[in-house]
Amino acid sequence: MKSIAVFASGTGSNFQAILDAIASGQLQAHLALLVSDKPSCKAVERAVANGIEVFTFNAKDYDGKESYENAILHELQKRQVDCVVLAGYMRIVGSVLLSHFHQRIINLHPSLLPSFPGAHGIEDAYKYGVKVFGITIHYVDEGVDTGSIIDQFAFHIEEGETVEEVECRIHALEHQYYPATIHRVLNGE
Ligand code: GAR
Repeated sequence: MKSIAVFASGTGSNFQAILDAIASGQLQAHLALLVSDKPSCKAVERAVANGIEVFTFNAKDYDGKESYENAILHELQKRQVDCVVLAGYMRIVGSVLLSHFHQRIINLHPSLLPSFPGAHGIEDAYKYGVKVFGITIHYVDEGVDTGSIIDQFAFHIEEGETVEEVECRIHALEHQYYPATIHRVLNGE
C-alpha cells in the first residue's frame, strides 16, 4: 500500500475527507504524516485527534524555502512517503520537494484551471461572473496552479446563488472527488 503525506494550512476539511475515505476503504493508502506551516490550524487539531503524526514549521524560523523544505523532505523520507497530497496548503512548493517528488505531488484547486489560479479562486470566479464553477486536481510543477491536469468536476450556478452557497458546493465537490482521485492516481488508474 502506498504512503501519503497531506500538506494543509487551514481548516482541513479535505484532510478530514481523506481520513474518512481511508477509514471507509474508499481510499487505499497509508496516511503517514500531516505537514503544516500553521502549527495551530484546525487541520493539525484533526490530525492529533485521529492519531496521525504531524510535522509543523514556522517559515520565519528557517533561512528560506530551501531550508524548510529540506526539513520537510527529511520527515517524508524517514517515513518512506510515496506521494504528497496538498489540501489547502497555501505555499508555493519549491525545487527541493519538486525534484524529489517529480509527478508525485498532487494539488486541489477550487476553480476550473487555467482560469482563476491563486489563493482566491472561488471569489475571483464569482466576481468575474462565471456561470460554470468547479474544481481541478492536478500535478504540481514550479508554477502557480499550472501543472498537468488529472481531473476536473463542474456545476452550473443557480440564479441568485450567493458566493457562500457556491463555496459550500465547491467544498462538497472537493470532499466527494478528491479522495477518489487520489486513490486512482496511487493505483495508476
Ligand atoms: C480548498 O477549497 C482548496 O481547494 C483550496 O483551499 C481550500 C482548503 O480547504 N486550495 C487552494 O485554494 C489552493 N490554491 P480545507 O482546509 O477545508 O480543506
